[in-house]
Amino acid sequence: MREEIKRIPSEEIARQRDFARQVRFHPDRPRTYYIVTYGCQMNAHDSEKLAGMLEEMGLTESADRTQADLVLHNTCCIRDNAERKALGNVTWLKEVKKERPEMLIGVCGCMIQQAEMAQKILKQYPFIDLAFGTGNLYRLPEYLLEAVENKDRVVRVDSEASTVPEGLPVHRESAIKAYITVMYGCNNYCSYCIVPYVRGRERSRLADDIVREAEGLVASGVKEIMLLGQNVNSYGLDSDEGVSFAQLLHRVSQTGIERLRFMTSHPKDLSDALIDEMAHNPVIAPHLHLPVQSGSNRILHDMNRRYTREHYLQRVAALRSAMPDIGLTTDLIVAFPGETEQEFMDTVSLVEEVRYDSAYTFIYSPRKGTRAADMPGRIDPAVASERIERLIAAQERITGEVLASMKGQTVRVLVEGASRRRAAQLTGKSGRNINVNFDGSKDDAGTFVNVRITGAGSNTLRGEKED
Ligand code: 5AD
Ligand code: SF4
Repeated sequence: MREEIKRIPSEEIARQRDFARQVRFHPDRPRTYYIVTYGCQMNAHDSEKLAGMLEEMGLTESADRTQADLVLHNTCCIRDNAERKALGNVTWLKEVKKERPEMLIGVCGCMIQQAEMAQKILKQYPFIDLAFGTGNLYRLPEYLLEAVENKDRVVRVDSEASTVPEGLPVHRESAIKAYITVMYGCNNYCSYCIVPYVRGRERSRLADDIVREAEGLVASGVKEIMLLGQNVNSYGLDSDEGVSFAQLLHRVSQTGIERLRFMTSHPKDLSDALIDEMAHNPVIAPHLHLPVQSGSNRILHDMNRRYTREHYLQRVAALRSAMPDIGLTTDLIVAFPGETEQEFMDTVSLVEEVRYDSAYTFIYSPRKGTRAADMPGRIDPAVASERIERLIAAQERITGEVLASMKGQTVRVLVEGASRRRAAQLTGKSGRNINVNFDGSKDDAGTFVNVRITGAGSNTLRGEKED
């Protein structure tokens, strides 16, 4: 079944802005907001859009969740624990609401977009005042106005998640680094993954819209942009524009931005053209997040990843031959249904072979409605925990070795501010996306400095600023 993609017309966005104005002048509107964000960068950026809309409606951010007039939970459902955490926090807030009945509790994002969730919220969570899915995010002003005017619950989840809203206000977390969504959704249907069901079909934004957003950010002083999409390598394949992701990267790199990153790349679509663009374009950071998930061909097949271990290693070889200093990171799943000890060890051996800078490791979590959820061969949780421990230990050792090998190198760091541990120290990220701490003055925040690496911790580097 092909789901229809809905490009939200600009008149609809204008209508929403009109609702926003009505909320702003409504005597009973909430005055302060607090957003709790779960999950990936995509969600973090969606929260910046939610905040942008709320600020347009005259709300200001509250530092204290329990004191806010509106608490919005932007949820994730990629694994069971993400979902349980969100529901646990929402339920905890129910107690606070007993003291402050005027508080509005909202829940949105991927968890809400799941089948039958709207009914579940209506029946089992009567204290949730506002709920809407990923496809309806841009309609927050309309829903909030309805909740304020009718003093009633608003639970809205369209069955389709595929919308492309342009021109939403954004309240960005950082003045130095910014996210830009280049495409929404995913068509890959990896057998374990719920994302295609809750984020809808792949749909790319127009290249001109993306470039215009980047130019605006550069003009406002942003130094680093991260282009976001579930699978950026298939950017443009759903549109008639004829702009590939490699070409888009090139265009964004010409806007005057000083450093450009992107994620996430699917190994099956990693083109030579992209590797070439990365290798020859100094604005693009020498880092690639390339989720492999498993080192076993049988598991990769059952995961519907549509590449083999050999293909993946060949892509890594092509990347390293074009960019010997590139930093690679990955995502790994252990205990996929039917995974044998030998198949798990294939993942460990791949990790040893690639030598990632770091890796996100997950225990497989069955998600209702996905193909893997019905596969036989569930792995015993004790075996799964033991496997993930071994995998983490292997990667930690490799991370330590990779970081130690950087001693003596000079790296370019975008300084973010004071380090969390020691106020006299500054912290920032190298091109390879590794945290670097060094002594410096606060005036360096928001600038690029060269740092000579003198030491390494378990996942950070230490260094001295060069003149
Ligand atoms: N169980 C465990 N990990 C998962 N991921 C996605 N779905 C699941 C699941 N059902 C992991 C993958 C993906 C990352 C974002 O989350 O590794 O790359
Ligand atoms: Fe999920 Fe696979 Fe799409 Fe990534 S590529 S979002 S793992 S379906």
